[in-house]
Parts: sequence; structure tokens; C-alpha cells
Amino acid sequence: MATTSSSSPLHLRVNGRDCTTPATPDTALLHVLRNDLELNGPKYGCGLGECGACTVLIDGVAARSCVIPVRAALGREVTTLEGLGTCARPGPTQQAFIDCQAAQCGYCLNGMIMTVEALLRRNPDPTQAQLRNELHHNLCRCGTHVEILQAALRAARLRLSQPTNPEDAQ
Ligand code: FES
Ligand code: FES
Repeated sequence: MATTSSSSPLHLRVNGRDCTTPATPDTALLHVLRNDLELNGPKYGCGLGECGACTVLIDGVAARSCVIPVRAALGREVTTLEGLGTCARPGPTQQAFIDCQAAQCGYCLNGMIMTVEALLRRNPDPTQAQLRNELHHNLCRCGTHVEILQAALRAARLRLSQPTNPEDAQ
């Protein structure tokens, strides 16, 4: 879906970089990220703010980019899955999901990883119940919940063993 052109470009900060988009201010942030900035980590699932597939961080807080207009992200730091690490150097939360092979189709994983990342940034040592509660509103149609919860617990352990995470410094 192409974004509609605005009269003047909007300036965004995404994954530590200054970006521009021709989108109108009311365009969903998800569409700007995927269509204009070619950041395809966040996924389009329900488009209604209910499944979590489109989750990004805005100023470090998990947010559902399918229902957030891009104007709400102006002047703030947006972090997508791509901002947590690379294939060669995944961040600890990404690494934990790889280690636990916590995926079947993988469509929900962006939301799971970004939601866990947001929680661990504000609470580095959560209980299993806190992790479960945080992920409660992220849907996985494949029923991979057990592995995803294991990955979330491993992510906390990995982050605690690597106290200086580059993405936290953004
Ligand atoms: S696509 Fe955004 S919550 Fe489902
Ligand atoms: S692994 Fe398929 S939706 Fe979660």
C-alpha cells in the first residue's frame, strides 16, 4: 500500500538515523516504515491494534504502529526490529529467540521480540508471570507460546549477562 504524498516531507528519527517520508501526517506509522523506509521487520497483521505483529518501540515503549499516525512519532525515537541488531550481530533478545528456535511461520515474531525488548528495558529481571502478562495481547496463530516464553526468559538472562547493550544507548 503506497503512502499518500504530503506537501512537505516529514522528518523522523528511526533506528538512530534521520529519515524523511512524503507521507501525510495521518498515515499509519507502519506503512511509512515498510513502504517508505523499507523496514519490513514490523508486520501487518490485523491493522486494528489487536495482534501485535506491527509492534515498534517509540521512545523505548512498545507501540502498535498500525494504529499510530506518523505525526505521533515526530520528534521521538522509533526503533524497529532492524534497530536491535543485524543477522551477523543479533541483539540479545533476537539471539534468545534464535537459540530457542521460537518460531513456526514467524509472522508474530516481530511483535514478540519487540514486546519482550520493551519490557526488559524497563524491568531487566522480570518473573515468568510478568513476561507472560506482557505477551498476553500478542497473538500467535501457530501456538508457539511455550517456546516464545522460553525465549523471553532466555533474553532476560542474556541481557543480564551483557549489561551494556548498544541499542539501549540510542
Ligand atoms: S497489525 Fe498492528 S496490532 Fe495487528
Ligand atoms: S509463529 Fe506463526 S504466528 Fe507465531
